[in-house]
Amino acid sequence: MTRHSDCLSVLTDSARFASDWRRAGEDIPAPLLSVQTLDPPEHTAIRHLLLDGFRAQDRQALHDTMEREAADLLAELALRPSFDFVGELAEPLALRFITAFLGVDAPDQAWFVPMSRTVVDGMDAGLWPEKHEPAVSARARLAEYAGGWLADPPKDGLIAYVAQHAESAAAAGVDRAVLRNSLRVVLHAGYESASRLLGNAAAALLTTPGALTAFRRAPLAAAVDELIRYDAPVQADARVCVTETELSGVTIRAGDPVTLLLGAANHDPLRFAHPTELRLDRAPNPHLGFGRGAHACLGASMAIRLAGSVFTTLARDYPDARAVAEPEHRRNLTLRGLDRFEVTLRPHTGEEELS
Ligand code: HEM
Repeated sequence: MTRHSDCLSVLTDSARFASDWRRAGEDIPAPLLSVQTLDPPEHTAIRHLLLDGFRAQDRQALHDTMEREAADLLAELALRPSFDFVGELAEPLALRFITAFLGVDAPDQAWFVPMSRTVVDGMDAGLWPEKHEPAVSARARLAEYAGGWLADPPKDGLIAYVAQHAESAAAAGVDRAVLRNSLRVVLHAGYESASRLLGNAAAALLTTPGALTAFRRAPLAAAVDELIRYDAPVQADARVCVTETELSGVTIRAGDPVTLLLGAANHDPLRFAHPTELRLDRAPNPHLGFGRGAHACLGASMAIRLAGSVFTTLARDYPDARAVAEPEHRRNLTLRGLDRFEVTLRPHTGEEELS
């Protein structure tokens, strides 16, 4: 599906389009069963546990901390002639952000980052089947790691909340392994999606003439939404049809996989005027960058605030920020993001050129 209306229809109809492929007779390895792969009614209890846990956090305090850390990091990086926005800002900040939210120490980067990438590569296994098995093992190892948090929970943060409510959640039907796997999803989704959002948005703002100045003038939430629509970290999503359905004149049979090209839907000219243009005051902006329906992103408002504070500081304090090399993309299809993006925050001297 590439049309916005078709993607929306599928995302909001979990009765006919399942996230849980067992409903179409598929075997799903245990490490893969999580909030992301269950459907209502099984999905409801784990989704609500997480939702209540998200709501119980002091998100203002987290936001204030992240805003300060982003400002400090930018001030440090501004002393250098140039730096890699992805490896030196987006990734460490996203890891710090999600682990602070969870209430745990950040994992060792040398262990976590390759593991996380293996999981992302596995999302493209429909095209590259050899990526599937390593991703299943990586998910299992990350879930085991998340299980360690529950065995010895911190005092604050989402893990503390979940550990305190684990018994009542079990009584409401939340399986222990699903709980662990879902915390792995929060860690992974928080890190990968948020870091990619920061990298993609930086590339859009620093390679589109006038965009950084326009960002300062645009309403903040609208500007971040437009950056997500323009270059979404989550480009594709999948469902399996469980009841024969006609959509836009096409019959989809039970058992048919449905790939939703959210990135294309976000550029659908039937839904968005001038879709290839970055319009930071675009409103309304019903992009599908956070999905929609039963599985809509739980971290959307936090991710918007994180990106908002990073780019507000950048646009306000470093109006001369610019790219010194083209952004280099990572070779993934489901998640879109950068490998490297060399940037300078220093005033233009006229000597350096985009290489
Ligand atoms: C604060 C960081 C984030 C956290 C903690 C987070 C967490 C989650 C979780 C737990 C889910 C699964 C919900 C469910 O299946 O019921 C989810 C879904 C999703 N998230 Fe996020 N997320 C974050 C950031 C982002 C960002 C920045 C994007 C992209 C702009 C994004 C895009 C999505 C999408 C598209 C889905 C739907 C997946 C589906 O329909 O199967 N997330 N997120």
